[in-house]
Amino acid sequence: ANFVRRAACNFLNIGSRNFSVSAPRHAKVSVLGAAGGIGQPLSLLLKQSTLISELALYDVANTVGVAADLSHIESAAQVKGYVGDSQLEECLQGSKIVIIPAGVPRKPGMTRDDLFNINAGIAMSLSEAASKVCPDAMLCIISNPVNSTVPIASEVYKKNGVFDPRKLFGVTTLDVVRANTFISELKGTPVTQTQCPVIGGHAGVTILPLLSQVEPSCDFTDQERESLTVRIQNAGTEVVEAKAGGGSATLSMAYAGARFAFALLQAMNGAKNVVECSFVESDVTELQFFSTPLLLGPNGIEANLGMGTLIDFEQEALEKMKPELSGSIAKGIKFANK
Ligand code: NAI
Repeated sequence: ANFVRRAACNFLNIGSRNFSVSAPRHAKVSVLGAAGGIGQPLSLLLKQSTLISELALYDVANTVGVAADLSHIESAAQVKGYVGDSQLEECLQGSKIVIIPAGVPRKPGMTRDDLFNINAGIAMSLSEAASKVCPDAMLCIISNPVNSTVPIASEVYKKNGVFDPRKLFGVTTLDVVRANTFISELKGTPVTQTQCPVIGGHAGVTILPLLSQVEPSCDFTDQERESLTVRIQNAGTEVVEAKAGGGSATLSMAYAGARFAFALLQAMNGAKNVVECSFVESDVTELQFFSTPLLLGPNGIEANLGMGTLIDFEQEALEKMKPELSGSIAKGIKFANK
């Protein structure tokens, strides 16, 4: 299972293929935090999918304008904006996929965990609403710290008696996208065919690209492996510093979020062999949540493909990340139960 199949290669033409069709073919997708730096370009990409019949855009402000703007695009998805608490329920009603990029992003010098105090509450209230209104929807969390916001959402769903571990995802696709790009730059592999699984979590050392499993396979010197791993782990910070106070990755994250959503939509429609990495409830390690390649199907996760065989460097990095990742998971669970 040492592979990650590129799920969304035909990125914008998605849906024009003839899959054997089951129920969700024309799915309603809602984006919570849709007026933000990620939310807007993500919604733009989603608007182009023929697998989406309704695009419901929710934020605490500005969604009416964003929705009016997107609604003029000549594609099938009907776009509607919802603003503020009183319209959240209507936004979520009937959604098959809920994507959450709501919350504050990092500024230079901040870690993702520094966002916890603000974003934990946002993740909690939005997942509370989704668990009540559309408990069967796939819930895809982008809001950081993902290592804690996903455990928060799982606790909320459990408390409300509707938790289905196959349907809760922390979106770590950007780490895979970055790994593929950087490997291709370094090794000259074709970028659209380079595939690197990334396991663990989504913050600093908890991000672990499995360079030993890259396809097409590449040889790395120890020094290359070390520096490439560190670059992938700190790639978000590269963007935060380059934006110098203007926020964190938004455009590449929108691409990654759309790639993940399209993979889910394809799988929900019966496509086979759709594999993406995501941070999910897991028994691959002793950690309750962990990202590995997942086989996706009509009901979300069909099989966890595990992490395959690690080389010594990766095994050591895995052991090194565990205390931090386990702490972030526990922090989320504690917050949700306070
Ligand atoms: P942003 O500040 O540009 O947008 C956030 C949006 O969320 C704003 O429009 C804001 O009004 C909205 N919002 C705040 N509270 C809300 C609530 N209770 N309900 C609905 N909407 C609410 O931030 P940006 O750059 O879009 O980042 C969003 C989040 O995504 C951050 O937490 C950031 O750290 C995270 N992120 C995650 C990545 C990943 O790989 N998973 C990559 C990059 C960013």
